Amino acid sequence: MTTEPAQQEGFIDVDSEQTPPVEKDRLYRLWEEGNWSAKALDFSQDALDWREKHGERERAAILWNCSMFLDGEESVTLTLAPFVEPAPRPEDKIFLATQIADEARHHVFFDRFIREVCQLGQDISTTLSAVRPHLSWGFVQVFTELDRAAERLRRNPHSLPLLAQGVVLYHIVIEGMLAHTGQHFLREYTTRTGLLPALGRGIFFVSRDESRHIAFGIQLLRELVSKDRRCKEAAIAMLNRILAWTAGVLAPPNHDWSYITCLGFTPQEMFAFGLRSLHTKLRRAGIDPHEVSELAKLGLDDPFEVQAERIIKFIEGGVLGTGDAPHVTEETMETIFTSMRLVASWSQQRSKPIRASIQWLFDDMQPRYLKLEPGEPPVTGVGRLENPRLTLRCSASDWARLSSRRLNQRQAVLSRRLRISGDWRLALELPRLLAV
Ligand SMILES: [Fe+2]
Ligand SMILES: [Fe+2]
Repeated sequence: MTTEPAQQEGFIDVDSEQTPPVEKDRLYRLWEEGNWSAKALDFSQDALDWREKHGERERAAILWNCSMFLDGEESVTLTLAPFVEPAPRPEDKIFLATQIADEARHHVFFDRFIREVCQLGQDISTTLSAVRPHLSWGFVQVFTELDRAAERLRRNPHSLPLLAQGVVLYHIVIEGMLAHTGQHFLREYTTRTGLLPALGRGIFFVSRDESRHIAFGIQLLRELVSKDRRCKEAAIAMLNRILAWTAGVLAPPNHDWSYITCLGFTPQEMFAFGLRSLHTKLRRAGIDPHEVSELAKLGLDDPFEVQAERIIKFIEGGVLGTGDAPHVTEETMETIFTSMRLVASWSQQRSKPIRASIQWLFDDMQPRYLKLEPGEPPVTGVGRLENPRLTLRCSASDWARLSSRRLNQRQAVLSRRLRISGDWRLALELPRLLAV
């Protein structure tokens, strides 16, 4: 086991809900004291390990991970500048300037690893192009949204709600959940095996820098959401827009989980780690995960390992993590309906509960239903109801797309992919009720 980051020099413990806020002045001082050289690392042993101690499978898995780190570091270097102007205080602006320098150094570090060890590319540009085929679908969606968020901020540099959206996407989700998880497992791998020492050393430095960035993001978001209700709503709207994509960032090519297991981990461990990490950071930033419908879909009161299993089933069924058509089995549909029951229960508790019976008649699968009763837990099942208030007809794959927000209900109705009969008022409530 590695030593936990919190016990290591210069690390800020971002995994504990108890860590007190860190003064901006201290964050800056830690940056000065923690400067390191990506150019000084010696990758010669890594190059030897890569050729002689790794099989094709491990090489593919490490390259897949590091490709996303390389492209991600480039992207976060280029998108952070628009955050500087709307940042409320001079101390925030100074910190963000140090962060831009850090991200550029992280780019140089992963560029050196991929070029000198994996032997891809001849310079910064060709190495970036060479990793592009390894980026997952979810990764591309999340980082395209980061480009859009940065552009919105650039055009509206005084909008605090847009700043809150940017910070929740950049510092909390991309750094605090996705990168934090990837770094944790890559560090575990290099420490446990003793292989790729310069990669391990560099990731240690990168994670230490990231602990400052995440701590800063948590504090800034906390300040924004505690002062302004619109900032909180904007941040939650961003989470609901992007969380279905984030599950796909670490969805391996062709659902081949050996991209993860060959390094000694299970996908369950990885997704549970990411979820726990996100929940902790949101709570510290003043956003209760219970306010986020996309998290309610996974079962907020279940252990993270159970929620992780649901993510894996969704990925395997093509519901999350892919732009391709879903291939929904009865088991996948069962998980979709479990998730609908969880989010319906969440909606019933948050607004005036309703009584309703909804029937789904799938073109290519058994019929299913959902029954809602005020004060009772929602019930889902397979079969036909006697007199449903609302009946929905569609293909199983279109319902999978609707449930994961890949297809909009209005568009589905207009294109006749979703045929509705019965109580239309209830149909109009579905997006609120089921977060579709
Ligand atoms: Fe970074
Ligand atoms: Fe960072």
